[in-house]
Amino acid sequence: MAAALDALKGVPLVRVETTPPGGTPAGKYADPDLGTKIIPKERYVGAEFMKLEWERMWTRTWQIGGRHEVIPEPGDWMSHEIGTESLIFVRQADMSIKGFFNVCPHRGNRIVEKDASGSAAAFKCGYHHWEWTTDGALHNLPDRETFPQLAGCTTLGLKPVSTGEWGGFFFFNLDPDAEPLMDYLGEIPAHLAPYEFENQKLIDWKTIEWDCNWKTSVDAFNEAYHVPAIHPELLSWLDNWNVQIDCLGIHNRYLVPFTTPSPHYHEQSKLSGEMLFFASLAGVDPADYEGRPRDLRLAIQRAKRARQDDTIYPYRRMNDDQLSDDYHYMIFPNATMNVYGEAMLLFVSRPHPTDPNKMLFDLMNFAHLPPDQPWQLPEHQTYKHGQISLGLVLDQDAYNLPRVQEGMNSRAYEGLIIGTQELRIRHFHKILDDYIDGVRPDHA
Ligand code: FES
Ligand SMILES: [Fe+2]
Repeated sequence: MAAALDALKGVPLVRVETTPPGGTPAGKYADPDLGTKIIPKERYVGAEFMKLEWERMWTRTWQIGGRHEVIPEPGDWMSHEIGTESLIFVRQADMSIKGFFNVCPHRGNRIVEKDASGSAAAFKCGYHHWEWTTDGALHNLPDRETFPQLAGCTTLGLKPVSTGEWGGFFFFNLDPDAEPLMDYLGEIPAHLAPYEFENQKLIDWKTIEWDCNWKTSVDAFNEAYHVPAIHPELLSWLDNWNVQIDCLGIHNRYLVPFTTPSPHYHEQSKLSGEMLFFASLAGVDPADYEGRPRDLRLAIQRAKRARQDDTIYPYRRMNDDQLSDDYHYMIFPNATMNVYGEAMLLFVSRPHPTDPNKMLFDLMNFAHLPPDQPWQLPEHQTYKHGQISLGLVLDQDAYNLPRVQEGMNSRAYEGLIIGTQELRIRHFHKILDDYIDGVRPDHA
């Protein structure tokens, strides 16, 4: 049996042959030569690396701050925490978004609650009632005449943070000299435009404090090598072997075929329950399907293509593989996107403010909804590790992560031994090293 399955690994998967005009490039990119060295474990467990990471990477990169439908109207605001900083994003009268540090210039108080949102005509600090308009300009300073040193001072506005927008998301960069967001994102916007993220709606939003380093989480979603061990339930319908990995400047992706069994799956001759479910979801009647399980993916692609003009999903802009597969992108440093024809599942791995053995895991679920379907902004809920189920697959990952983190703290452990199926991990650490070393990576 094992030999037969091994032979299957050598059978190439049918890949998309045509890409619609303006579609996502699907071809394989040349792999960079990143060597085979161990990635030292100190970066996951040590306060020293955490500090370097903060000073040289977190404060110099563009990161997702939030989503446009959370603050749709002028005066709507939300706060966002990154490391030891708290930020406020506010929708302006001209519908642009401004970002500010959530800190009062008087005595340092936080102006709004952390990880919160609301609507305001002005921001007023709770300590002594200094007040700003929503564009950050100082509006009122009680008993100003008692601050002789501030006579004529015009720099008491909220301290701004750079912002940019793409795909319905707003991004921020703590570096006042940051390159424009679109330069930073490189090829990503062109790759993902066909999915029309800006037209999707947020339908679930959770944050969980996980007991691991933020990179332990990023790594876990940057390889499919762990699927047979951690997620055996996926093998009947997800091909973890024929995964195309591409390094895209400082970002990367892998393309994971869905609705086709893995060569690691023991039953290659009949459709599993999950495959039957995916078939019916796509409008393929299993009773009419006579092909191999391996080829159901192609039948599903054809079925979706046949109704591309009669659906709310932007199928017509996608290549065939995008109708069935997970085009999985990682935007450096911490955004992981599971991208499907109909929906997108976003993970954002944020560092804990003080503890390298903890992190904040944001989970945001987006979907294209029919225009007549009522929609409400989901409540942002926060949890501790293990407090809530995130579904079978993410629970399996979440169970494993603290075990990895603990093991990395062992004196017996040296660092990551990385195989070719884990190339994205090596690439991610190379880019991180470039920031730590002060080398601005080539974003092209
Ligand atoms: S600390 Fe904010 S008004 Fe005094
Ligand atoms: Fe996983």
